[in-house]
Order: sequence, then C-alpha cells, then structure tokens
Amino acid sequence: MKIGITFDLYSEYLALGYDEVAAAEFDSEDTIENIEDSLRRLGHETERIGNVKHLMRLLLDGRRWDLVFNICEGLSGFGRESLVPALLDNHEIPYTFSDPLALSVALHKGVAKRVLRDSGVPTPDFVVIERDADLAAVNLPFPLFLKPVAEGSSKGIDAESRVNTREQLERKGQRLLQEFQQPVLVERYLPGREYTVGIIGTGLEAECIGGMEILLKEGAEPGIYSFQNKREYETVVEYRTIDGVVLESCGVLALQAWRALGGRDAGRVDLREDEVGRVEVMEVNPLAGLNAVRSDLSILCRLRGISYFEMIRRIMTSVEHRIGNPTLLQESARRRSA
Ligand SMILES: Nc1ncnc2c1ncn2[C@@H]1O[C@H](COP(=O)(O)OP(=O)(O)O)[C@@H](O)[C@H]1O
Ligand SMILES: [Mg+2]
Repeated sequence: MKIGITFDLYSEYLALGYDEVAAAEFDSEDTIENIEDSLRRLGHETERIGNVKHLMRLLLDGRRWDLVFNICEGLSGFGRESLVPALLDNHEIPYTFSDPLALSVALHKGVAKRVLRDSGVPTPDFVVIERDADLAAVNLPFPLFLKPVAEGSSKGIDAESRVNTREQLERKGQRLLQEFQQPVLVERYLPGREYTVGIIGTGLEAECIGGMEILLKEGAEPGIYSFQNKREYETVVEYRTIDGVVLESCGVLALQAWRALGGRDAGRVDLREDEVGRVEVMEVNPLAGLNAVRSDLSILCRLRGISYFEMIRRIMTSVEHRIGNPTLLQESARRRSA
C-alpha cells in the first residue's frame, strides 16, 4: 500500500514558539522514523505528510493515499484529535486508529466517564467544574483528584492534584481553570496501585496484549504518575509487567472501556485500585504515544517480548482486517446492546 503518515512534530512547534508544556504531546523525529521503517519492512511505500495543514494542502491538490497512518494530536479545542480523521473520512481515505467520534469523546474525560458509567465500567464518581463558583457546590467525599478535562501527558497534574480539604480544592480548581482555560474534572481519588493496559484490535476482535504496573521510586513526586514523573521516568519510575489475576481483571475492564468508547486498532487504558483494592478505569487513550523507547505502549509490549516492529505489524493487521470488514464495529455495537 501507499501509506501517508500524519503527525505533529515537536521540534516544528518549538520553532514556532510553543513552550515545552504546550508541545508535550507532540512527536519527535525518531518516532516518525520508527513508524516509517516498520511500515517499509512490511512492504509498504510511505510518504511523510506532516500535520493537518500539510494534509489539507495535499488533499486540495488532489493527492490521495491507500491508507493514512495517523498520530496527529492536534493543536487546540475538543476536536483537535478528530480533525485529521474527519478530513480523511470526508475524502473516503482509510486511516489507522479511532474515528472522530471516539477520539473527541475520549479526549473529554468528563464525557468519556459518562459513557463508561453508562456502560457499567467502574470509574470514580466525578463532577465537571466550569467556573470558580462551581467549586463550592462540589459534594463528593475527600480525598479528591483534580485534572484539566481535556489534556494528556499528565498536563496540570502535580502533588496538589490530590486534595483533602475545601481550601485545597478551591485553590487547585481555580488554578487549573485559569491555566488551561477549560473545565476541570473533580473525581474521587484512587489510592491504590496503578496499571496501564495495552489493547490491539477493534470491537469484539480487540485483545489485551499486556499491561504493567507503574511504581514510583524514591525521588518521585509521590503517589501519582504526574507530569514531572513522566518526564523523569528513567530515574523515578519503575514499570513492572503484570500477569495472572491482576492482568486478567485489568484486561477485562480495559476491553470493556475500549469497546464502550469505540477504540480502534490500538491504544491504552489507565487504571487504578480504589480503597478496597477494586480496579477502576481512569481514562482511555485511543491515540497512545508510539515512541519506540519512551511510550508506555511500547514499554509494556517490550516487557512482554513484543518488539516495536511486531507491535506495528499487529496494528496494521487490525487496520487491514477492519477495512476489509466494515461491519465489524456495527456488529460489536449490536451484540453489546442485545
Ligand atoms: N482519580 C484518580 N486518583 C488517583 N490518581 C489519579 C486519578 N486520576 C488521575 N490520577 C493520576 O494522574 C495520572 C494522569 O491522569 P490521567 O487521567 O491518566 O490523565 P493523562 O491523560 O494526563 O494521562 C494518572 O496516571 C494517575 O497517576
Ligand atoms: Mg493517562
């Protein structure tokens, strides 16, 4: 196949004046190279398209591809991850990973949690705060956890995200509203062990390919997989592969969450144990990072002996299978509601 690759390059945004936090979700050159290499080893021809602006220009010029391998995170707004898939849908060009609906629902953690709750997937009780005045009306038991409603890479998440008092809640809530200019999710704090699980596939054919526990070492910001801990992961985080009943229980929930939100091809689900050791879903990542060295999905694959190339090969198998079977998703939805 002739495969175009869409991506947001970190260095390109830094050069445009974006700071490290604003550009935190974007990809480095080696990620694109590794994807490209893997696709070529699979016998495909590749072309680097770049970000949505480059894609728009090429589409207007009449350019087409058999498939687009899309890892664009987008720049702003709740539709930022959906922009590229929506354009490609409109041009009837197939692409990897989720569609605009799944991507925008998963991006907005409040909406995503409503869907999860409605599907019977355990996730902490929550409210979404739109302005300072809403904080006084929060009626959930402490400790609570606060995060921007639609960010990733643990943006805005630090030692103050866990709050024990009204005063701390007001302070962190106001700060997040101000800094990120978007609603804030307030949810029950999950005090237990943290896991992340990898999924490959779509609908009923999705499978859990493994998972890992995230352990924080001495010197880490305690208790949370925060922005700072993610940045310093080499020294402060230990990733331990999970198996047996832990993997089984995380995997069942992760697949339920994945299917409920309509995830496709590959992604990750983040989970944590509550005060009685019951696993709950924190969030679903339908556009998981694909850096061969640093990204959680690649790390958890590596811990299970799945090479980066093998991971991309399995993603491509899912895409090819899905494109050849357009009824796969509808069938999955029908069986779920039956
Ligand atoms: N309800 C919660 N209770 C405890 N820790 C949480 C909770 N929600 C998030 N966290 C911590 O914050 C991290 C980032 O939150 P997450 O929802 O995964 O957002 P992101 O999209 O930034 O990865 C998690 O990995 C976890 O360590
Ligand atoms: Mg996460």
